[in-house]
Amino acid sequence: MRRLAMFDSLTSYAGGKRRLLPAIFRQMPPPREAPVLIDVFLGGGSVSLYGKARGYRIITNDIADRSVLPGRALIENDRVRLDHEDLMRLFKPVHEPGFVAQEMVPGVFPSKHGLFLDRALQNARKLQGPKRWLSLLLCIKLALRLRPLGTWGARRIIEQMDQQDYEGMRDSYIRDVFARAIPRHPLRMAENLRQAINRGVFSSGQENIVHQMDVFDFLPSVKGDIAYFDCPYANTSPYEKACRPLDEMLAGKRLKVKPNAFSTEHPAKTLPRLFEAAGHIPLWIISYGNQVVGLSELVDLVRRHRPVIDSREIKHAHMTGLATRENRNRNRELLVVARRK
Ligand SMILES: C[S@@+](CC[C@H](N)C(=O)[O-])C[C@H]1O[C@@H](n2cnc3c(N)ncnc32)[C@H](O)[C@@H]1O
Repeated sequence: MRRLAMFDSLTSYAGGKRRLLPAIFRQMPPPREAPVLIDVFLGGGSVSLYGKARGYRIITNDIADRSVLPGRALIENDRVRLDHEDLMRLFKPVHEPGFVAQEMVPGVFPSKHGLFLDRALQNARKLQGPKRWLSLLLCIKLALRLRPLGTWGARRIIEQMDQQDYEGMRDSYIRDVFARAIPRHPLRMAENLRQAINRGVFSSGQENIVHQMDVFDFLPSVKGDIAYFDCPYANTSPYEKACRPLDEMLAGKRLKVKPNAFSTEHPAKTLPRLFEAAGHIPLWIISYGNQVVGLSELVDLVRRHRPVIDSREIKHAHMTGLATRENRNRNRELLVVARRK
């Protein structure tokens, strides 16, 4: 697919569907026939943002702040942007060090940028409405930019970055540190991210809504024409574990990781519950990974609820480190489409 500037506004997301959007949207009737698209699991937001640009009215949901804040900033909000003065206000001095300065510098973030991030988070939380969502999205993007290779491991690299000890670093990390412009002043990085976020703010002339609920409460509460399902896949590292530092940064406190049923249980247990909750939505499009089920098994699971009208397997390497290299080579995305009789 052509690289669209609006996608610069999103966070890079393991399990994100950006490269699969043409295959997914090919399965959808146009908005004049099926105006309301329910993106059941918002995640990194690529399906909702693309759907919004195509003219569907978007209703979406996620349980996690890391998804809901960007969703409110870009899917719900359609006119407020972050200007340069907003950015300068984010970096105004604060009275006391916050959670990031106290607990995450220098272990998780390099000190110069971490202290900058700490201020931004504290100032963003004082705001209301779209400016708050956009500012917190900027904090999320800044935090991800500061992490080596965009992941949350590798504490030693953060120390080496802090001390500018490039001799001790592996080549791939040195390249990454410079590609992210980490040695520069943090304000330059933040200014680039501000501009990237604004590229995703546009109006589609519709009222789009982002909810934050458990999916089993959300689905019965909404009406729409198409439901797109992209739940966490069984046998992949749970998002709550992989994104824990990000979740703690947003919560401003330590969190206990609760196991997520979608990641830990077999889809034969979790998917039927989802399908029962979505029985009133005419068209379902379901994405799933091939880690624990094959295409025919997934089709059988869906068929117990309604007729399957299309199914396919697409070769797809996930973007980042939730899967091992070996798994990445074997990875397939399964896509099943089912329509109510
Ligand atoms: C695979 S991601 C969705 C990816 C998305 N389609 C994209 O393109 O970026 C799954 C999402 O489901 C959310 N989630 C997991 N369990 C949930 C639950 N019980 N209720 C609501 N959301 C949940 C996670 O927070 C995660 O963001």
